[in-house]
Amino acid sequence: MWEPFVLRGFDLFDAVTDTTREGGLDVYRITAKEDLTPVTKLLKIEAPAVARKAKAGQFVIVRVNERGERIPLTVADYDRDSGEITIVFQEVGKTTKLLGTLGVGDELVSFTGPLGRPTEIDKYGTVICVGGGAGIAAIYPIARDLRGAGNIVISIIGARNKSLLFWEDKMRAVSDELIVCTDDGSYARKALVTEPLKEMLSTGRKVDVVWAIGPAIMMKFCALTTQPFGVKTIVSLNSIMVDGTGMCGCCRVEVGGETRFACVDGPEFDGHQVDWNLLFERQRIYLDQEKRALELFETTCAENKEGR
Ligand SMILES: Cc1cc2nc3c(=O)[nH]c(=O)nc-3n(C[C@H](O)[C@H](O)[C@H](O)COP(=O)(O)OP(=O)(O)OC[C@H]3O[C@@H](n4cnc5c(N)ncnc54)[C@H](O)[C@@H]3O)c2cc1C
Ligand code: FES
Repeated sequence: MWEPFVLRGFDLFDAVTDTTREGGLDVYRITAKEDLTPVTKLLKIEAPAVARKAKAGQFVIVRVNERGERIPLTVADYDRDSGEITIVFQEVGKTTKLLGTLGVGDELVSFTGPLGRPTEIDKYGTVICVGGGAGIAAIYPIARDLRGAGNIVISIIGARNKSLLFWEDKMRAVSDELIVCTDDGSYARKALVTEPLKEMLSTGRKVDVVWAIGPAIMMKFCALTTQPFGVKTIVSLNSIMVDGTGMCGCCRVEVGGETRFACVDGPEFDGHQVDWNLLFERQRIYLDQEKRALELFETTCAENKEGR
């Protein structure tokens, strides 16, 4: 008899769903679009089967067109009633820029998820949720659900400058306390997110768990900040992913001296155990190809605009 695919203790067909419509047609239509910052966009996608199962901490793998690459994006929110998933992405290269050109009514070729292990939501006591840059969108559902589980939630959000900050109001709504920082001081407190984090721990305030999501370098320094205080720190590793289901090995990371696949064993891991240098090294593997793909994409866009 045909058996469901069980991989590294992870039941693929139980966890992963593509939206399938009556008649067998998959439709992943964009129902809303918002520019959150000059380089950060929000899309709501019609994907009822994904929305039914999605939980905080999980991600989807998106493909914009038939020839497009697969990119992982965190589930920033979901609405089980309307069947929509919200994604928030920073335009950093070819595919995210291409995704950013789509508008309401456009459709994605594939939208696979929810993938990865959900955040372990429990009543821990007092938790700190740190979000940096696009990581603010990823930390939002975690902070919301941790508060819903009865935790005292202190949130710290930060960006390089005022124009790159978003969701301050949403984060305030799900936090008992919110600290906002910008690196250059153009808004709120001039600080890196690690500064208020360290101050809070130094005052002797009892903190049970810290979540930190953002650029890898930010997560590394959050983990280094909390380590001397012995506070458990969960990070969400953004290693390069292809299939997102544990088959290609592309997302390989090392945690506690063991090889783990971020897509199925994570993406959340104990930040004190992560081999950060290996992660940085592997994130840079395709830099030349990524640069060339972006240049080609921008040249083609410019030529199309000029009608060539
Ligand atoms: C689990 C997970 C969740 C993520 N969630 C978000 C999110 O919610 N919002 C957001 O803005 N970004 C998120 N990212 C990062 C996002 O996937 C990359 O920014 C995107 O793939 C870049 O593609 P690109 O073609 O635009 O840029 P490229 O020029 O191709 O790449 C820019 C950089 O992005 C990273 N990257 C490239 N391809 C991949 C890939 N297939 N998988 C992972 N990283 C890649 C590399 O470090 C690369 O140097 C997430 C990554 C992971 C692993
Ligand atoms: S993305 Fe292929 S194994 Fe994780």
